[in-house]
Amino acid sequence: MQGIFLDDEGVKPFITEELYEKTLKKVEKAHEMLEKKNGKGKDMLGWLELPTNRDEEEIAKIKVAADKIQKQADVFVVIGIGGSYLGAKAIIDLFDDTFANLKTYAERKHPQILFAGNNLSGKYLRNLVEYLEDKDFAINVISKSGSTLEPAVTFRTLKILLEQKYGEVSAASRIYITTDPEKGILHDLAVKNEYEMFKIPRNVGGRYSVLTAVGLLPMAVANINFEDILDGAQFASFVFNNKDVSNNDCYKYALYRNILKESGKDIEILTSYEPSFQYFVEWYKQLFGESEGKDGKGIYPSGANFTTDLHSMGQWIQDGTRNIFETVLNIQVDRSLIYLPEVEDNFDNLNYLAGKEIDYINKQAYKGTYKAHIDGNVPTMVIHMEDVTEYNVGQLIFFFEKACAISGYVLGVNPFDQPGVEAYKKNMLNLLKENKEEEKE
Ligand code: PA5
Repeated sequence: MQGIFLDDEGVKPFITEELYEKTLKKVEKAHEMLEKKNGKGKDMLGWLELPTNRDEEEIAKIKVAADKIQKQADVFVVIGIGGSYLGAKAIIDLFDDTFANLKTYAERKHPQILFAGNNLSGKYLRNLVEYLEDKDFAINVISKSGSTLEPAVTFRTLKILLEQKYGEVSAASRIYITTDPEKGILHDLAVKNEYEMFKIPRNVGGRYSVLTAVGLLPMAVANINFEDILDGAQFASFVFNNKDVSNNDCYKYALYRNILKESGKDIEILTSYEPSFQYFVEWYKQLFGESEGKDGKGIYPSGANFTTDLHSMGQWIQDGTRNIFETVLNIQVDRSLIYLPEVEDNFDNLNYLAGKEIDYINKQAYKGTYKAHIDGNVPTMVIHMEDVTEYNVGQLIFFFEKACAISGYVLGVNPFDQPGVEAYKKNMLNLLKENKEEEKE
């Protein structure tokens, strides 16, 4: 059953018929390019088939490894950057208790999950090493290229810590590698040291890899039913393949964002009223940012976490430069069942809300903000998700992946490469090497 729906009422007043017709043709063409696999980046379309054409052998291996990790480690460190961690972090945040990492293993029922290798901060790494020193831990190093500096620096540090703690042989049984199945430094090291290895299919790019072992192994360690996520994504891969755009919410979303871009709205803000979606928004930012922002083109993907950010960015969104549009992720059913209590002396004058669910109050904030933003000339789409289930989240993942590919083609870019990322890496590595030469002199 479809669990996510696009509500376009808040965007219609901003759409002209002429732009609609013109962009519709581009969306239809983009659909054809994906179907025929003849567009830019055509060799990187493996993500389209991940939910339907599952690698059952890999899935079985993931389950066994997750079970082993749960037994051997109190802390599981996921080392990766960009597409190699954001999806897993996003999904785990959605399903874990908000304070999971502050609880005990028995309460959580799985190891504490920490993410590392996603920055070059000395403070972060020192604090991590100090924290891990007296813990039983295992690591999952995730890197498609196998040579990205941020995870490599963390891996080297934690590998040594593991070897000091457990000896080389036992340390090896606590190192899980997710990388290119055929080549690369990590791949070769895993083969040499017999580390357990999982694959990132060659035709799946980092930001499209959440439904491979990149996302599935950390999810399994966190007891998330990833097969339901894959089932939801599989369902989405059928319903969001309908070439009739008026009956395809995913294509409609891609269509509207491009019409809005043509009308001068070139910043999208993905908002949610649920803090556990914060990293989902980060995942979306990376997906669209790296896929669309190139050749001097692109819609700038940004995010806000409401109601928190209504007290920081709310002013700007309501009243600043009118070059933005908003997409709200609205969760319809909240199962937390927490109510505002009544107090006799009504010390805070909130008794008029007594007995109401906190979610009811949150929903009124959403409705009030939605209207205010449209009145303030912010075109607003809403993606309604009935309930945060694995099945619906699987649909949501595929919805955004497909919309991103279609939207990228409509913009006229290759949504599957990231040439711009190399510029900083090249400069940084040159600097690091230059400094090394100077030290030698
Ligand atoms: O989407 C992408 O390709 C990137 O964001 C990568 O995931 C990121 O740069 C990490 O690369 P790697 O997995 O090779 O370490």
